[in-house]
Amino acid sequence: MTTRRRKAGEPTAQKREAHVQEEEGDRPYTRVLLQGALVICSLLVIRTFVDFEEKEYGQLATINEDIPHRFIEVGCSSDYDKEKVMFKGCIPSICGRVIMDHIVTREEAAKLLDVAKKGLSLGGSNGGASILDLHSGALSKGDKFVDIFSLQKTKSINIFTEDDFKLYTRVKDRIQHTITAEFGIPREKLFLTNPTFFSQMTTKPAQTVHDEYWHPHVDKETYGSFHYTSLLYLSEYGTDFKGGRFVFVDKDINKTVDPKRGRLSFFTSGSENLHYVEKLTSGTRYAITVSFTCNPQRAIDDPTLR
Ligand SMILES: *[C@@H]1O[C@H](CO)[C@@H](O)[C@H](O)[C@H]1NC(C)=O
Repeated sequence: MTTRRRKAGEPTAQKREAHVQEEEGDRPYTRVLLQGALVICSLLVIRTFVDFEEKEYGQLATINEDIPHRFIEVGCSSDYDKEKVMFKGCIPSICGRVIMDHIVTREEAAKLLDVAKKGLSLGGSNGGASILDLHSGALSKGDKFVDIFSLQKTKSINIFTEDDFKLYTRVKDRIQHTITAEFGIPREKLFLTNPTFFSQMTTKPAQTVHDEYWHPHVDKETYGSFHYTSLLYLSEYGTDFKGGRFVFVDKDINKTVDPKRGRLSFFTSGSENLHYVEKLTSGTRYAITVSFTCNPQRAIDDPTLR
């Protein structure tokens, strides 16, 4: 294309365009109709794509609700059939999901959040999910796990106090009693199992499979020993982070639980409770997973300050 200087009096490009538009303006109604049709078509196309992307959810527990007790029954899967005799009285006969906002106080949850932050400040995964397990000492660091108690020794620092461990154990015991009461299990038949851990989730892209918390999974399959899974939320959906809701995957419609500080949610660990955590879109999400088994051989002890 060649360029040349515009001679005086010659119309500029803008003026020429305006002229062309005036000529087309001879058929204004046709033009308006065509443009209108185009806009409507575009909107329809966009809507179709948005509908396709947008999932519909049912809500089990929203952030604005205060839930003293909510039990949602779901039919038990056949996952427990083989163990019914062996762990009689503990294996669930009724399966379901429970949400209780007052088992743990918001103050206790805030203190546990401090414990989580203290511990995790010594490590942290390169990807979006980190854990701290006070029982085994496992702490995510980079692409692997280190032992937080050895790390403390090497650095000759004491990050946890006796009170931190007392609080943790007290809250854990209360959760255990709540689950046995809810599912009608004799206290001596349900045991804490591993992994039981603090979790921290961020928007960082995953580096290893451990970071990919958003895949639907069944706890009983993933962890083997689990019969009842509980989650205690330490931070809040919508203010501390966005995304990151807990989602039960059901045939008809998936159901969400909004994390809320001090909210306890627990459920039977079989495939009747397939679930995942939504990818975070901002902020940091903290929770504790407290896991229980009917198998005494898979029981773990309370954590001790080392
Ligand atoms: C529920 O979630 C799963 C996993 O993300 C997804 O495949 C499925 O389409 C969702 N169901 C509905 C009804 O949106």
